Amino acid sequence: MPANPFEDSRIAAGTIQRHGLKPGMHTGPVESDAISRNDARDGAASLHNDRKEHRMSANLETMNDLFLDEIRDLYDAEKQLTKALPKMVKSSSTPELKSAFEDHLQETQGHVERLEEIFQTLGEKGTGKKCVGMTGIIKEGEEMIGDMDEGSLRDAGIIAAAQKVEHYEISGYGSARTHAMMLGHSEIASRLEETLREEKAADKKLNDIAQTMVNDQALGSSSSRSGPRTRTAGH
Ligand SMILES: [Fe+2]
Repeated sequence: MPANPFEDSRIAAGTIQRHGLKPGMHTGPVESDAISRNDARDGAASLHNDRKEHRMSANLETMNDLFLDEIRDLYDAEKQLTKALPKMVKSSSTPELKSAFEDHLQETQGHVERLEEIFQTLGEKGTGKKCVGMTGIIKEGEEMIGDMDEGSLRDAGIIAAAQKVEHYEISGYGSARTHAMMLGHSEIASRLEETLREEKAADKKLNDIAQTMVNDQALGSSSSRSGPRTRTAGH
């Protein structure tokens, strides 16, 4: 007897449904065993097909493949950022924030060039990979900017969005640098480390601007508001 008859009946009902048998039809122990064996065979066949499909679609088979995929991803991420940063400059009101984004735009262009040099060194192309993570982070930031009026509150939001970008890049460069070292590409690893340091510095600068000038103003401006906000036309 099963320890939990209710649970057992649920399993039986599921089995009956899967095999097109009507509830109430007697399957008996022999048929039940046959069904279980069929289930196991179906499951094993499906798992085998899944694995086969997975193997057929797997293009990254070595650490070198993984490393190339990572730096192609970073290359696309940096290129997306060169387009997003000018919009962040335009949307910011705090002069220090504007200039931090302008500086980082220049650095980002340098990061793109640095990666191009790395591809050249490796004799590989940098194209062919879309960084969907960066696309998502930028899209989320743009949606947030579109939902806010210009001012210190929006600046606080822009900093939060930009720090997500930086943290994403810090993570990507950290792994790529480590993998480059593992593969014996010490020169490439130190170039990636250089970018990593700049990303960390950009993140720290954003943090300082938030803590020393933007956040307090944002809190003041939002607490002085009364009543529901209306969206500005064109946003
Ligand atoms: Fe960068």
